[in-house]
Amino acid sequence: MVDLITKKRDGQTLTQEEIEWMIDNYVSDAIPDYQMSAMLMAIYFNGMEDTEQAQLAFAMLHSGDVLNLDQIPGIKVDKHSTGGVGDKISIPLAPLVASLGVPIPMISGRGLGHTGGTLDKLESIPGFNVNLSEKEFVDLVQEHGEAIVSASGDMAPADRRIYALRDVTGTVESIPLIASSIMSKKIASGTNALVFDVKVGNGAFMKTEEDATKLAEALVSIGKQANVNSVALLTDMSQPLGITIGNSLEIAESIAILRNQGPKDVRDLTIKLAAQMLVLGQKAPSLEVAIGLAEDALRDGRALKKFKQLIQDQGGDPAVVDNPKLLPQAQYKIAVKAPRAGYVVGIDTNALGVAVMQLGGGRAKKDAALDLAVGLVLHKKLGTPVSEGDTLAMIHANQEDVSAIAAQVQQAYTIDSNVPVVPPLIHKVIR
Ligand code: URA
Repeated sequence: MVDLITKKRDGQTLTQEEIEWMIDNYVSDAIPDYQMSAMLMAIYFNGMEDTEQAQLAFAMLHSGDVLNLDQIPGIKVDKHSTGGVGDKISIPLAPLVASLGVPIPMISGRGLGHTGGTLDKLESIPGFNVNLSEKEFVDLVQEHGEAIVSASGDMAPADRRIYALRDVTGTVESIPLIASSIMSKKIASGTNALVFDVKVGNGAFMKTEEDATKLAEALVSIGKQANVNSVALLTDMSQPLGITIGNSLEIAESIAILRNQGPKDVRDLTIKLAAQMLVLGQKAPSLEVAIGLAEDALRDGRALKKFKQLIQDQGGDPAVVDNPKLLPQAQYKIAVKAPRAGYVVGIDTNALGVAVMQLGGGRAKKDAALDLAVGLVLHKKLGTPVSEGDTLAMIHANQEDVSAIAAQVQQAYTIDSNVPVVPPLIHKVIR
C-alpha cells in the first residue's frame, strides 16, 4: 500500500490490478484507514485518468452485491440527481416514464444537510415502504415497470466505508472520488442506462459550471466504460426547484405535476428528463417525439395512475393522490414578508435548505429523525417583482416560535431594483 500511495502522490496512474488489490484489502481490513486516507488525499490532489476512475468504480461495485435485472424485458433506465433543494423530480418522473413502457428500477437516497432525499419524501405517504427485499424490488419492476427503494446494505460496501472516511478527511470534494462513488452504486442496481441530473449553482454540490461539467463528463465516461448508456443534463440550482421544500409538501407538488398542473420549472425538467429516458429506453425515436409522449401521459392521467400503482405496490395509501391533505400537515403557517420593493435578484438556495433542516425537515446528522410535515412554500422566485410587505415564503412549522428561521429565510432573498437575468433551467447536455 505504501508503494501505491507513493505512486499516486507522485502523479502516476494506478493499474487495474493495483486498484482491485487496494479495494479488496481495504474491505477485508488488511489496509488500515490511515493508509486509505493518505491515498484519498493523493487522489484529491492529483486526480485520476478516465480509465483509472472507472476501474475504481468497478472495484467498489464488485465489493458487494450486483443486481441482475436481465429477467426483466426491455431496457431498464434510472435517473440520478447530484442533489438539490426542492428537487422532487424523481417522484413524478418515475411513474411518468414507467407509464410509457420503460422499466424503472430506481434506487434512491435520503437527505443530508441542506438537500432532501427521495426516500424521505416518499415516506411522508402513510405506509409507504422503501425497504423492499431484492426479490420484491425485481418483481415489482417486472410486473408494473417501477419501484423506488433504498439500496440494500450489501451494495458497494467499499463505497460506504470510503465515503465515511472521506467525510472526516477533507476528501469529499474530488471529482474522481465523487463520480466513482456514485457510479459504483448506480451500476450495482443493474440498470442498462442512466440519465444524470447534475445540479449547478448556489444550492448544489457543484457551485460552478466548470466543476459541474467535469463531474458530468466523469459520470458519463464511467457509464460508457460499464456499457451503461449515459446522458447528463446540467441543470440550474441557483434557486430551489418548484415552490416547495420539505417532504410532504414536495409530495403534494409532485401530485400536482402528475395532474398536469404545478410549477413550470418542475414540469419542464420532469418532461426533459423523461424524454432523455424514453430515448435511451428506445420508446421514442427522438427527443421531440419523446416530449410529446410525456406531455400526453401527463395530460391523459396515465402518469398519475402509475403513481397510484407505485404507492399501492409499496404499501402506501393511494388516497393521498386524490386528497393530499392526508399527507402530514404542519400546525403553524407563518409568512415571511419582503422588507422592501424591487425584484428578487438572488436566492441563497443553500440557506433555504438549511432553514428547512432547522425546522426538522432535514438531517444535520445521518440517521436523525425527520418531521415530514414541515418546510417552506415559496411565493416568490428569481426575477419576480415584489412590493414591500409581500409574502416571500410561508413557513410550515410544528413549533410556534420560528422567528430566527424566518429571519434566515428573509435574508436568503436579495431584492434589488434592477431586473435580473434568470439562469436557464438546463445549462447543457453532455453525452
Ligand atoms: N454522492 C455519492 O454517492 N458519493 C459522493 O461522493 C458524493 C455524493
